[in-house]
Amino acid sequence: MNKLKHLFMCLLAIGTVRHNLPCFVSVHLIPVSTPKNGMSSKSRKRIMPDPVTEPPVTDPVYEALLYCNIPSVAERSMEGHAPHHFKLVSVHVFIRHGDRYPLYVIPKTKRPEIDCTLVANRKPYHPKLEAFVSHMSKGSGASFESPLNSLPLYPNHPLCEMGELTQTGVVQHLQNGQLLRDIYLKKHKLLPNDWSADQLYLETTGKSRTLQSGLALLYGFLPDFDWKKIYFRHQPSALFCSGSCYCPVRNQYLEKEQRRQYLLRLKNSQLEKTYGEMAKIVDVPTKQLRAANPIDSMLCHFCHNVSFPCTRNGCVDMEHFKVIKTHQIEDERERREKKLYLGYSVLGAHPILNQTIGRMQRATEGRKEELFALYSAHDVTLSPVLSALGLSEARFPRFAARLIFELWQDREKPSEHSVRILYNGVDVTFHTSFCQDHHKRSPKPMCPLENLVRFVKRDMFVALGGSGTNYYDACHREEF
Ligand SMILES: *[C@@H]1O[C@H](CO)[C@@H](O)[C@H](O)[C@H]1NC(C)=O
Ligand SMILES: *[C@@H]1O[C@H](CO)[C@@H](O)[C@H](O)[C@H]1NC(C)=O
Repeated sequence: MNKLKHLFMCLLAIGTVRHNLPCFVSVHLIPVSTPKNGMSSKSRKRIMPDPVTEPPVTDPVYEALLYCNIPSVAERSMEGHAPHHFKLVSVHVFIRHGDRYPLYVIPKTKRPEIDCTLVANRKPYHPKLEAFVSHMSKGSGASFESPLNSLPLYPNHPLCEMGELTQTGVVQHLQNGQLLRDIYLKKHKLLPNDWSADQLYLETTGKSRTLQSGLALLYGFLPDFDWKKIYFRHQPSALFCSGSCYCPVRNQYLEKEQRRQYLLRLKNSQLEKTYGEMAKIVDVPTKQLRAANPIDSMLCHFCHNVSFPCTRNGCVDMEHFKVIKTHQIEDERERREKKLYLGYSVLGAHPILNQTIGRMQRATEGRKEELFALYSAHDVTLSPVLSALGLSEARFPRFAARLIFELWQDREKPSEHSVRILYNGVDVTFHTSFCQDHHKRSPKPMCPLENLVRFVKRDMFVALGGSGTNYYDACHREEF
């Protein structure tokens, strides 16, 4: 049997079989010992690798499967968990779009045949899929800031266009939305039944895949919502920094980070050899193949159980895939160590974090607006936010990844507010820079909002090592 097919049969087992996974003999799947400090022992799909239980060598195929995020059985999640005397005040959700068609083609090969129309008799399926399509066809341009109003509201091409959201992507976000509905609306009554337009804040970049992902999540969250109460704002920047995007030092960090990436790649002779082999197969210069970012396309083959492309010179295969994926993992590891990306992230994520604490502070004053905020975004949005928060061990954002900020009020001490941070359903609050040693210092069960506010207003800039303690100074530092 073809290796990729074999792998896929195993893949189906991930959601259902909890223990032995004979397909992944060499793979370390589920930690045996009890995870420490705040990590849920219930979360099966771990988000943060655990240095205690995880072997130093990460399996590229296992990592790729997590990245695909194939919808399976309902997952467990830790959203909405708080002592019973806490009241949920507001929720801020950052998502990466769902599964998409590649952004690049492998030169001189047939692109994968993936159907981006939404149909009931194809897997993965969600019971709300048909209702979603029918509801989207009733939507009008009035619900969207220009230029969003020119985008299709759901994927619809029999052969996907480049970067188009797939049915898998829609199902992933219908699931996310439904999960958040069960927790935040049914259990915690975040919004009243007759919620109003200004209680939602919706923002997306201008790609069809982010808009459609946002709509799918929203539909799962508020089925059959009233279109008149929906308004999606357009965010031109993938960093969601509108109005404060100018930051020269951030760009300098990025250039240095890209240089680091380039040098690491040069050092990896196995990677160079692999690109060389693949270039021979597709008969283009190695440089051209590398520029076509083949891993993006290969991940699509992999996530959709479509064999890798062949030419009369041979086939791109699993070994090529593993080498490139392993390099990506290695690159992420070095990225954490060298901290250039951290500098970029602190400056890149500050504006959106600042905006979020602003929204939270207004909610603590009793304002009933923007209680549910949704930002539909990209890996290049979530990644800097995670890194800036000090969650450098967090995995690279998979398709339909979600990062959530919850704001809570202590009913017994109504002036006290707390935050929780969740990444793909795992509570990572006590892994963040601003609440890491909270348990050592405070008897309070939750992380105080002030910690996050102090961090965003001032402390996050300390990581940069300069003298700047605010965004403007840090962005314009001379000595860098
Ligand atoms: C993957 O494809 C093969 C045939 O190409 C099929 O037999 C197998 O069931 C597929 N696996 C999944 C999970 O769809
Ligand atoms: C942070 O948010 C406040 C409003 O909450 C705003 O006045 C300020 O300009 C923002 N700062 C930055 C750097 O975005």
